Amino acid sequence: MQAFDTVRQRLRGLKALEGPFVPVDFSDAGGPPQALFLDWLEAAIAADIAEPHAMTLSTVDADGHPDARVLILKNVDDTGWYFAVSSESPKGRQIDVRPDVALTFYWQKLGRQVRIRGKAKALDEAICHQDFLARSPDARASVLLERQSERLDHPSSVDKAMAASRGRIDQNPDLTSAAWQVYVVVPTRIEFWQGATDRLHKRLLFQRANSNSAWERDLLWP
Ligand SMILES: Cc1cc2nc3c(=O)[nH]c(=O)nc-3n(C[C@H](O)[C@H](O)[C@H](O)COP(=O)(O)O)c2cc1C
Repeated sequence: MQAFDTVRQRLRGLKALEGPFVPVDFSDAGGPPQALFLDWLEAAIAADIAEPHAMTLSTVDADGHPDARVLILKNVDDTGWYFAVSSESPKGRQIDVRPDVALTFYWQKLGRQVRIRGKAKALDEAICHQDFLARSPDARASVLLERQSERLDHPSSVDKAMAASRGRIDQNPDLTSAAWQVYVVVPTRIEFWQGATDRLHKRLLFQRANSNSAWERDLLWP
């Protein structure tokens, strides 16, 4: 293992927030946060940023311990931000106990970060089934394993279970998983962060007390 100082120096030598970045003018952002998010998402797609729909989902377990992992964003609308996971996975169980979650996006080439806080709401079975059936056969078969994040005794166990799952799908293409759950994060706090090379980052915060209240907008110190 490298000495602590060597690692520290190596990390210090790496660049961050190099830019150049296009300055933002948040005074134009008069609409709902979803509209600004979709503008930024389109800009990330146009900039050819890899997997611009990848986001970190942060959750808290029953003991108050935080957890986080990367997921794919499925949709955004007036209600909120959507994702789908197995309700029997650790994240699914954590959301079941405590629906308070955070989503974080980082679009490196643009120096942009978006942070979203809210409650994850589970959607109806019919929507979950529809979403499940829109997945590729492999993606469906992996959900049907229904053992995500459990301890794996031997890698061959996955291959065998996957072959069995694929067989079930071949026999019944309409097969769904009761564990597949689509959630919408209904936000109460969304922050847009535009990095700057001079470190005078621009930040815009949208906040509301609950999903029925109007959004308040505030600029934040860098
Ligand atoms: C780019 C990327 C996309 C991912 N997308 C998903 C996803 O959409 N759904 C999912 O359950 N896991 C996805 N994962 C895997 C999760 O990060 C995580 O490892 C897995 O869901 C187990 O999480 P858990 O043990 O906290 O339940 C993705 C990982 C990466 C790196």
